[in-house]
Amino acid sequence: MNPPMSHATKPMITRASSPLTGTIRVPGDKSISHRSLMFGTLAIGETRIEGLLESEDVLATTSAMKALGANVRQLGPGSWSVEGVGVGGLCEPETALDFGNAGTGVRLTMGLVASHAVTAAFIGDASLSCRPMGRVLDPLREMGAEVLARSGDRLPLTVRGPETALPITYRVPVPSAQVKSAVLLAGLNAPGRTTVIEPIPTRDHTERMLLGFGAELDIEENADGERVLRLTGQPELKPQAITVPSDPSSAAFMIVAALIVPGSEVTVQDVLLNPHRTGLIKTLEEMDADISIENVRETGGKKLGDIRARHSRLTGTTVPAERAPSMIDEYPILAVAAAFAEGETRMLGLHELTVKESNRLAAVSAGLAVNGVPHEKGEDWLSVTGGETVKGGGTVVTHLDHRIAMSFLMLGLASDAPVAVDDGVPIATSFPDFADLVTQLGGRIELAAGEKA
Ligand code: S3P
Repeated sequence: MNPPMSHATKPMITRASSPLTGTIRVPGDKSISHRSLMFGTLAIGETRIEGLLESEDVLATTSAMKALGANVRQLGPGSWSVEGVGVGGLCEPETALDFGNAGTGVRLTMGLVASHAVTAAFIGDASLSCRPMGRVLDPLREMGAEVLARSGDRLPLTVRGPETALPITYRVPVPSAQVKSAVLLAGLNAPGRTTVIEPIPTRDHTERMLLGFGAELDIEENADGERVLRLTGQPELKPQAITVPSDPSSAAFMIVAALIVPGSEVTVQDVLLNPHRTGLIKTLEEMDADISIENVRETGGKKLGDIRARHSRLTGTTVPAERAPSMIDEYPILAVAAAFAEGETRMLGLHELTVKESNRLAAVSAGLAVNGVPHEKGEDWLSVTGGETVKGGGTVVTHLDHRIAMSFLMLGLASDAPVAVDDGVPIATSFPDFADLVTQLGGRIELAAGEKA
């Protein structure tokens, strides 16, 4: 349960929309944006980043990297320069690093700090202060970091890195790219070899980018089918020129909106198509969504494409647990698609959903309930029974969770009665121009009081 919110909230509402049409680009990928800044900080020389996501979460990382010694400058919209300090060269920040709502920012930066001989305090908003940090702190303690935290390893907390970090072998106990990445980032400044074993593969941006920056990293599959990552510590990372592709997790809202609003046809350009991120597209295709992926190409080692979605008569499906890591941030918007799909959509293996910006399993279920969508949930599963129409009319509690807010605003574009969310402010953490892009497609997001958002 989140403590009370401290900012001025902004209730928002959507109502049945005319067709959504057009071609848009959504902002840069959040995972790659955070990592570009962090790896740029650990390289020697200037890393140039184009298409950086300029959302609150990522801007918090720019501030943190500055506080740790990097020279981070905005050169123009989406265009950034990072002059790094090199592996081992981080400075001690003078004030607490404030990560706001950003789980990826805070957890990966804890990894950076944990193998440098500096002390850093980490703080965040009410949502971040409720999220479990033990999953990254446990391996970082094994590497020699000291942690001063209140019970349960929640923020605010302080990490002090040792003079010399210990390289470890760590089997990631939960399917989490953040945990894997925190250990690898710490391993960068540990002499010797840090090994991470990943029983269930998760998004691989850290590995790909480490290789791009010149780290020595071997990746193989062991006899049990687990991914084994062996990183040689203390490399000299080389600065890179990075173009951040559009975020598939942001594109997801526009794609599902096109599928559920009658008469719609929307194309989202230049979307990252990394196989660890495309679970939603696969699922929607199984639900008979009219989706085509065009102009598929490879740029800078990344697969990109334009995703076109047309209004579709969706049908229910079962989403297997193994698919969860490749669409972990997309379940709230999938639940909205499922509300319009004929029959039952079963989503399995959702345990990680309970420790996101909110308990998303509970928040999605509550949002469906107030809008008259029949569904059932268990400890780690959700089953939604959809149909051609959705009643709507409810106000959804967002618990400082951007994806809950955006998902239910999309529901309102196709439901019989308007759908409100209690607070749209958190949308700026990942997708500041969300409302503008919906407007560009012909939809409308209003302040619940009636004023146009
Ligand atoms: C992310 C990993 C995922 C995801 C988050 C971004 C990353 O979290 O939910 O939005 O960039 O590594 P977990 O690693 O906790 O699954």
